[in-house]
Amino acid sequence: MNSLAFVKGLIGLIVFIAAIGALATQLQSRKLIPAIFRLKGPALLKWHRWLGRIALGGTVLDGMLCMEVGLYPALRTDTRHLIHMAFGVLLAIALLSKAWVLRRKLKWALRRAVSWGIVVFILEAGVFGSATVFAIWARIVGLL
Ligand code: HEM
Repeated sequence: MNSLAFVKGLIGLIVFIAAIGALATQLQSRKLIPAIFRLKGPALLKWHRWLGRIALGGTVLDGMLCMEVGLYPALRTDTRHLIHMAFGVLLAIALLSKAWVLRRKLKWALRRAVSWGIVVFILEAGVFGSATVFAIWARIVGLL
């Protein structure tokens, strides 16, 4: 594995952990899961925003690194790269639009915040699974 792939994988891992935290803080603040963090009300939401920003920043950064490596000069068209690209594009759209509409406190968006957040998380898991998890698995079975 080259050092750029390692950096991308590391950023991907940080983004994935931040996304789990962002999801869990929102679900806890809405009492949809039992309390995991010793935080309450506004503190949970403050953590959500920061973890969400880390996930968003890391996603954009990793996306740029991936495009530089994957799309230029040679677009990779094997199934795994296509799946990874599809998840990446959908994640960027879902996450950027979510952050944008929720910051503006649009009522229709706030009503759909939980399902939107869960979709964002599933897409993030797809990006992570089709890259870092795949690389770890491939290394274990000797493909990389
Ligand atoms: C149950 C799932 C989720 C719900 C209900 C939810 C809800 C919200 C709400 C209501 C806000 C606006 C907060 C405010 O400004 O008062 C927000 C902001 C945000 N969320 Fe989520 N969210 C969820 C999951 C996620 C996930 C999984 C991520 C990232 C992977 C994420 C990333 C963000 C970001 C980047 C912001 C904008 C932060 C800023 O204002 O700068 N959210 N979310």
